[in-house]
Amino acid sequence: MRKENGFVILLIALCLGLATMAAVSSSPTNGDKESFEGFDSLDEATVTENWKRYFPAQYDGWMRTSEMQETTYGGGGKAEAEGMDVEKINYLEMYPFLKVNYDGFAFSKGYYRSRGHYYALTDIADTERLPDWDKRPATCIGCKTTDVSKLDAIHGDDWYSMPFSKVMGSNTIGCLDCHAPDDATVRHARTWLDEGLAHGTFANIEPEGRTDLVCAQCHTNYHFSADTRKVELAWTTGLTAEAQLEHYDAARRSDEWVHPRTGALVAKIQHPEYELYHEGQEVNVHSMLGLQCTDCHMPKATDADGEKYTEHHWTSPLTHVESTCMGCHSNWGTDGVVARAEGVQGRVYEKQNRIGRELAEFIDAVAAKRDNGGVDEVTLTRLQKIHREAQFYWDFIWVENSNGFHNWGEAHRVLDKAETLINEGMEVLDSV
Ligand code: HEC
Ligand code: HEC
Ligand code: HEC
Ligand code: HEC
Repeated sequence: MRKENGFVILLIALCLGLATMAAVSSSPTNGDKESFEGFDSLDEATVTENWKRYFPAQYDGWMRTSEMQETTYGGGGKAEAEGMDVEKINYLEMYPFLKVNYDGFAFSKGYYRSRGHYYALTDIADTERLPDWDKRPATCIGCKTTDVSKLDAIHGDDWYSMPFSKVMGSNTIGCLDCHAPDDATVRHARTWLDEGLAHGTFANIEPEGRTDLVCAQCHTNYHFSADTRKVELAWTTGLTAEAQLEHYDAARRSDEWVHPRTGALVAKIQHPEYELYHEGQEVNVHSMLGLQCTDCHMPKATDADGEKYTEHHWTSPLTHVESTCMGCHSNWGTDGVVARAEGVQGRVYEKQNRIGRELAEFIDAVAAKRDNGGVDEVTLTRLQKIHREAQFYWDFIWVENSNGFHNWGEAHRVLDKAETLINEGMEVLDSV
């Protein structure tokens, strides 16, 4: 009897020991890292693997962007049994109205939910949205790879007009995109961001000197420059939806196309996370408090040796609210804070999809009238203007990846504007 108990205890102890060992070996440690003295070449620094021996904890977080974490409204995708192999969420199947709203443009051919940084380069290489590699613009890798620093050094801005097949490499987003190769200080590497900032059009914040400019390199709306095909941020007149529409109105931009059903010139907005979070007409409480992208998406952590480091696993903050939200919202509890965030998101999610459907109905109603010659030129021009603006405001929120969390007041304001325009357009249609 005693012997058996001893055996059970031994077994439990062994299991605990193994579990602890597993915990230690899987929890990152910077303990035996080599001291960093800078890279000899940009070639070396573009390969993220080469940073690992100096900064194992940060590297470990970066690697975990390959893990998909599903939340109610966010997360990158559904994890499959084998872990690394993940299913992509197909937006065109989930939201059929997108095929109408983006008709005539590449996004009606292939559109998946965004995933972790680990997949950025693979996803752009595989997309059904773009033509063959020889015809696809090089600009598309601009926010997908550390190679950009090298291409800038060799070609200046000339590489943007080269074919995709010439610039496509194998390094996804990594350390070099946010850290200097000589001393690893935090820095941004995209010159188009400096050009965007030079317009000096920020209203709510002073972006210079903020750590989260590293995110503004890519998590912003953009189009290609007409001359060089370089990325251009639409910040000439400001960062709000209205100001950016003014920017597009000033000249025809890439990512604008004539919608085949209504004949309206419409624009495709791309992920304006930075703009919505910091620069709405409605100011969000979290931005007003000084919180940056990094505070919620890169919380501080402690490694196995008790050393503090910054978590480099960019994902939904709702998967680890203890380190991102509880410092301020402990009175709501961990479940409470998620429930409140999802309450905020749910109202925006419902509205952005409802208006997405209403927009599709409006587009088809205009098309039907136009096809049977039931609308005069003046009225058609008016309807096309309404379509352009309503689509701009709806898309500005629809493609923003937080489902309104980053600035719910602004999300509702901009979506309401889209809906008012659609209603006005429907009334115009009823009267002809
Ligand atoms: C106050 C905390 C907070 C700040 C600051 C913040 N975010 Fe978020 N972010 C969130 C939450 C919460 C979500 C919703 C996640 C979900 O739906 O599971 C989110 C979602 C996202 C997503 C989509 C992720 C997903 O899982 O679907 C991206 C991308 C993102 N944020 C980028 C940014 C950028 C860039 C900034 C800075 C401009 C920023 N965030 C600032 C809390 C924050
Ligand atoms: C998207 C931008 C981004 C990328 C990519 C990135 N980092 Fe960081 N890194 C940051 C930010 C932001 C901080 C925190 C700065 C602060 O809070 O002062 C940081 C901090 C650090 C620090 C300082 C110590 C700490 O943990 O706070 C080290 C070292 C570091 N990163 C290494 C790396 C390595 C290695 C990689 C690649 C595996 C990497 N980073 C990729 C943005 C990035
Ligand atoms: C070099 C460009 C680049 C930089 C810099 C960058 N991102 Fe990203 N980010 C992307 C791209 C591209 C994706 C989508 C990848 C995909 O879907 O394959 C993405 C995806 C994400 C996601 C996951 C979205 C999801 O649904 O799972 C989060 C969260 C995120 N980024 C946050 C940040 C934050 C916070 C920063 C700044 C610290 C940052 N990113 C800096 C380009 C960038
Ligand atoms: C620096 C402190 C701080 C941090 C960190 C912070 N918040 Fe907040 N948050 C506030 C304040 C202050 C308010 C406004 C007052 C209030 O509603 O309690 C607020 C408001 C909110 C609201 C609106 C509540 C409502 O129903 O109107 C939600 C939802 C929310 N926060 C969620 C989050 C989530 C999720 C995180 C983490 C990803 C987070 N917050 C991180 C300070 C913070």
